Amino acid sequence: MDVIRIEGGRPLRGKTYVSGAKNAALPIFAASLLTDEKCVIENVPDLSDIRFMAEILTHLGAQVDRIKSNTWSIQSGDIKTTAPYELVRKMRASVCLMGPLLGKMGKAEVSFPGGCVIGPRPIDLHLKGFAKMGCDVTVDNGYVRLNGRNLKGADIFLGGRHGSTVLGTANLVMAAVLAPGVTNIESAACEPEVVDLCNMLMKMGANIEGIGSHHLRIEGVQRLRGCTYRIIPDRIEAGTLTIAAVITGGRISISGVKIDHLRALIDKLEEAAISVSIESPDCIVVEGNGEHRAVDVITLPYPGFPTDLQAQICALMSVTKGLSIITERVYPNRFMHIPELQRMGANIAIEGASAIVDGGVQLSGAPVMASDLRASAALILAGLAASNETWVQRIYHIDRGFEKIDQKLQSLGAVIERLEAKYMPAGFRNQE
Ligand code: EPU
Repeated sequence: MDVIRIEGGRPLRGKTYVSGAKNAALPIFAASLLTDEKCVIENVPDLSDIRFMAEILTHLGAQVDRIKSNTWSIQSGDIKTTAPYELVRKMRASVCLMGPLLGKMGKAEVSFPGGCVIGPRPIDLHLKGFAKMGCDVTVDNGYVRLNGRNLKGADIFLGGRHGSTVLGTANLVMAAVLAPGVTNIESAACEPEVVDLCNMLMKMGANIEGIGSHHLRIEGVQRLRGCTYRIIPDRIEAGTLTIAAVITGGRISISGVKIDHLRALIDKLEEAAISVSIESPDCIVVEGNGEHRAVDVITLPYPGFPTDLQAQICALMSVTKGLSIITERVYPNRFMHIPELQRMGANIAIEGASAIVDGGVQLSGAPVMASDLRASAALILAGLAASNETWVQRIYHIDRGFEKIDQKLQSLGAVIERLEAKYMPAGFRNQE
């Protein structure tokens, strides 16, 4: 297994770019099942989660080809309707196959995804929506079994305790596009990744109104056609690179971004007195000089501050002078990165769904353990700011969601390398 070694303390400088968005690409791959024609998907990031999704679609009987490094083609006729545990357990997002399987084949059997390290991950809202559409929903032997032979349009309220649901909205939209009648989804998620999915479905011939709002009206059509579609840039990768510039006191230009998707982050950074200049509609320049101040952050569904940047902002606040309260409103237990940041010297206390960060410390490098994708990004950021060497283990988490992160950071002057774990100093390696 590989590890990442970082020698911290180098201000990042230069130009970089953002890859396609993982969380847009995954449901879009699933949506390709809704037509018998070929879909060509461009700007797909090269990530292990994408390869898992391709593996599952292939298992279901689709023809999936990577035709260029970031372009895939997917074509399917009649497909299997069971997504088994061995495949689903590798990637929770495979839950978003339920909608397209129902829409195309009228039934779906998908292994129940269960929770994960960021907390409980219920799918009650997805199932409530399918039931409203006339689908029989049962859960047995660890599988969700959906029988939707009589699937039809319905009025669905999708709000839950923590707001709406991103993949739940995606699932119901994908079930509704081919269902007879009109489906109204109230309290729909309006994350850019949901918008991207809806835009792709429109290109395939779907009839969706209200895209980007909390109310979606979908009128079922008889069939969808193939299309070529380009995935949006990854706003979480853009945010992580932005924070990398600030935490190292560097200056970087990031191209290929969509400014509108970064408003909550830019607003928060401005409040912290960090300079982010918009060079053009798809390029920002971020400069850190160590003089910014601590700010409080609350994560919320879009357009609020994204939970997928919470760990990274925690790392930044750890080295920022002052007190900061970071509150998780989407996944109240998503603090697995904090014990590892504490090992690097961060002063952070967890109080309910908030992390109280007493910042301004000089982090010191240590062997640390990534627990999930965004936590691993936070540890890399902390390592870039820390003195001495940081060794990040379990980096398969980072490979799930950040394309070439080590190479991109290297090109900006970071001293970061991927090594086999056997090169870690004796005593650093975790006994797994
Ligand atoms: N929730 C329910 N019931 C449901 C569904 C969700 O109570 O039926 C709750 C969840 O427990 C959570 C909140 O609603 O508290 C939001 O969950 P959501 O369903 O929106 O999350 P998701 O769709 O499963 C996607 C991303 C996550 C991202 C969240 C929130 C993908 C593949 N995953 O998950 O991304 O954090 O939306 O924006 O799109 C990541 O990329 O690292 C990641 C975890």
